[in-house]
Amino acid sequence: MRSKHKSYPESEYPDKIRDTVRYYQSMGHIVLPPHLLKTPKQLEGMRASSRINVAVLDYIEKNIRPGISTAQIDRWVYQKTTDMGGIPAPLGYEGFPKSVCTSINDVICHGIPSSKEILQEGDIINVDVSTIYKGYYSDSSRMFCIGSVSPEKEKLVRTAKECVKLGLEQVKPWGFLGDIGEVIHKHARAQGYSVVREIGGHGIGLAFHEDPWVSYVTHKGTGPLLIPGMAFTIEPMINMGRPGFYIDDANGWTVYTADHKPSAQWEITVLVTEDGSEVLAW
Ligand code: MF3
Ligand code: CO
Repeated sequence: MRSKHKSYPESEYPDKIRDTVRYYQSMGHIVLPPHLLKTPKQLEGMRASSRINVAVLDYIEKNIRPGISTAQIDRWVYQKTTDMGGIPAPLGYEGFPKSVCTSINDVICHGIPSSKEILQEGDIINVDVSTIYKGYYSDSSRMFCIGSVSPEKEKLVRTAKECVKLGLEQVKPWGFLGDIGEVIHKHARAQGYSVVREIGGHGIGLAFHEDPWVSYVTHKGTGPLLIPGMAFTIEPMINMGRPGFYIDDANGWTVYTADHKPSAQWEITVLVTEDGSEVLAW
């Protein structure tokens, strides 16, 4: 269990958890730096940001339908977010050109909304919304089935959601980040699916992407210790076929499955609390 990762003086952690942190550090576990643990004030900001994020997704859920373009979804996200005083986090992020990621069928993630892309009956789409409010970030995504979809796609969408719920059940203080990935990849594989390995979740709060990086193919008892005040996303990408992917050369963003079979993803932002977890955005 001992490893050579950096450890931080336990005196920098809140009084309440200092002894427990010292114990796990002495056992050689990865303990993330204390500055990543959110203060009550920061959590208020993150909750407010998350309320906007959830309201935007609720709006999309009510209005999404066959025949609209993904550019229309982008306009809705921009309008709703800014009406509520927020900023869409993707807009301009590392050059991303739109306010939201819209990923249809064999697009795993980071699809770019377009007026040329029209939702068809039978499509499955991930709408990934991220908000900045007063400097605080939130991030969550949902799948939508457009009209009636095949039983195969419906099951993929359902399983991806179950994966997030199972992962969430693992979130509690003094567990390990690896506990989450283990239950997720076990469930996905039991249904005959695969889990994307190289793209994962992330810590979140004062920045869009903070430590830790969150993999969904990990093992129980490994990885960073879960400490009250840590906030991160659970967002496994579940593929109907093989886990391989490629990124569209033309735009540098859109991630497709290599075998062009469908992929599904749900995402939540979750906080580790003193007695379990709190879902901030879903
Ligand atoms: N919401 C995505 C995530 O979960 C954000 C991708 S970056 C973007 O990390 F620029 F494409 F939005
Ligand atoms: Co995310």
